[in-house]
Amino acid sequence: MEIAEAKIRIEQLKKNIGEHNQLYYVNNSPTISDEGYDKLLRELIALEERFPQFKTPDSPTQRVGAPPQEKFKTVRHIKPMLSLDGTTKEEEVSRFDKRIREGLGENNVQYVAEPKFDGVSIELIYEGGILTRGTTRGDGINGEDVTPNVKTIRTLPLKLDDVSATIAIRGEAMMTLKDFQALNKRLTEMDKQVFANPRNAASGAVRQLDSTITAERKLTFFAYEITQTETLEINTHLEEIKLLEKLGFKVAPYFKHCKDIKEAIQFHHELEKKREELPFETDGVVIKVDNLVSHEKLGTRTRSPKWAIAYKFEPRKEITDIQDIVVQVGRTGKLTPVALLRPVDLSGVTVSRATLHNEGEVKRKDIRVGDTVRIERAGDVIPAVVERIPACLSVAGRSQKDEKRNQPFKMPENCPVCNSKVIKEIDEKGKEGAYHFCSGGISCPTQLKRAIQHLASKGAFDIDGLGEKIVDVLVEKDIIKDISDIFKLTKNDFLPLERFAEKSAQNMVNAIEEAKNISLNRFIYALGISNVGEHLAQVLAKEFKNLDNLINTNADVLKSIFEVGPKVTDSIVLFFGNEKNRYVISKFFDFGVNIQEIEEKEEKELPLKGKTIVFTGELEGFTRDEAKKLAENLGARVTSSISSSTDYVVVGANPGLKFDDAKKLGIEIFYEEEFKEMIKVP
Ligand code: IVH
Repeated sequence: MEIAEAKIRIEQLKKNIGEHNQLYYVNNSPTISDEGYDKLLRELIALEERFPQFKTPDSPTQRVGAPPQEKFKTVRHIKPMLSLDGTTKEEEVSRFDKRIREGLGENNVQYVAEPKFDGVSIELIYEGGILTRGTTRGDGINGEDVTPNVKTIRTLPLKLDDVSATIAIRGEAMMTLKDFQALNKRLTEMDKQVFANPRNAASGAVRQLDSTITAERKLTFFAYEITQTETLEINTHLEEIKLLEKLGFKVAPYFKHCKDIKEAIQFHHELEKKREELPFETDGVVIKVDNLVSHEKLGTRTRSPKWAIAYKFEPRKEITDIQDIVVQVGRTGKLTPVALLRPVDLSGVTVSRATLHNEGEVKRKDIRVGDTVRIERAGDVIPAVVERIPACLSVAGRSQKDEKRNQPFKMPENCPVCNSKVIKEIDEKGKEGAYHFCSGGISCPTQLKRAIQHLASKGAFDIDGLGEKIVDVLVEKDIIKDISDIFKLTKNDFLPLERFAEKSAQNMVNAIEEAKNISLNRFIYALGISNVGEHLAQVLAKEFKNLDNLINTNADVLKSIFEVGPKVTDSIVLFFGNEKNRYVISKFFDFGVNIQEIEEKEEKELPLKGKTIVFTGELEGFTRDEAKKLAENLGARVTSSISSSTDYVVVGANPGLKFDDAKKLGIEIFYEEEFKEMIKVP
């Protein structure tokens, strides 16, 4: 290709991909398939490699991350990034309004109320319309230059049309609850420490020296402020929001233009009710004077503007005591210290246990039995112990006097379940990791129990009814000795067990029988190989096509697969290298398990392949489970909450808030009849 031709094509591709990014990530209405998009992006990457002189900072290829940095540069903000005065009390909000009205000499002041995003504040600088810098808030005066990282955030434009002046956009980098849960799931599968809440996860992602990791962690940016508005014709915050949206930013999905403070307070109450259903974490409402000229008149204090207040929600935090610290054994033998707490209510949920993650974490926080601690719940994650409250600061008499505290926690030397020796994990570099493991393998009953539960779980064999209690009994009574034994169970194995009668025992056997036909990826996942979660199992199934190929592969082949790193390679080689594991696998087939060969072609033709569907309301013709199964059989992924990656929402009678969310996000809506049409049910 000639240079001139390449230049034109690169420009075309940049524009085209930029538009698709906007449609997909901001407007939630893609007009191109994922494959089509990847093809365009690959073409651009290839052209930019051949003609690097045409690679510009606003190219969509910049979104995949840049080479790692040594450390972040510190940069000074053009204008200080202030914080907000906050309160949880309605009276204080009324006083704020009074101050504003007096300050402006106006009887009636209009406000905008919007969510207070619980993420990481970011400032973006656009020069001549091109995103040239992204910084964290830092201490408000100086921030860290995290430009390569913010460029990976797909919900912000790398280029603004029709803006030539230098402007700064401020907003919050967030991790949606869905992305947060997926990230923690991946981290758990890799036996890595999870994040306590989406804010920490977002902050960790923003502050990665290697921006390819930021890119994987899928941040979302919500914009709320433009500084240097002199050159832009906007007079109110409402216009500011509208302009941000027009420029291609994602703004708060819910906000309200309020004719007085009462309406703003009302909005706070409404949002607090909706809080648990929002796709991201919010810790309150920010109430801002709408008129921007009034902002100038009111001015700022040292650290916060006078024209805004954060009206916060009651925190989902509580104070309680640690009654005991026990050690739990996980599926892979990982030992986790768990705090048993005096039960407390945390926004409607009674909490009596909290994870302490690992021995190092307990030491760092210096948590001991008898201590008073602050616990926190974020999203729908298990609560975490945030910090110890020293006796001198705690409510009189509740906490142990500091000098009388119990001994520090220590990991036991032997597994609390099977008494095998406890060993410390060794990472790839041969260094000691953070976690302890039981060395008993599946001769440790707890590991066997959890391995069977994993095998029966939704993403694996999906055996209905084989819950924790039954599995525990089957292992304790020695009916099951390894994971394959599930498939030799007969009615007579269940009948003598408590709570089983003829019909329930038969149902159990039927469920096991039905589960025997399984796809390769589910089978691989079901084996419970360390570090191999659902996604990696899919990657392996696609790559190896059948189980024998996978069993007989070697480390070099595994390492060459995109997404398979050295840790996963080791786990797989170790697992299949173990003769006992190979023997157990052969038993599955003796008991009639059958891995279905799914032709890739067939999979591609599934009409709902790659689509994410959410159901809301009651359907007439199906139960929720039936509808879900039908959609999944056609290749769809069915999830319970709406987010920007939801493709369709199927609506039945009396739909919930999800219906409103879907409309707001512009997600395609199907009513029951249309859904039937979609899945071709007459
Ligand atoms: S407006 C302070 N609007 O919360 C200057 N800030 O706790 C005006 N924040 O540093 C900022 N959501 O970064 C504004 N809807 C929202 C916000 C928001 C979150 C951040 C902001 C500030 C921090 C204060």
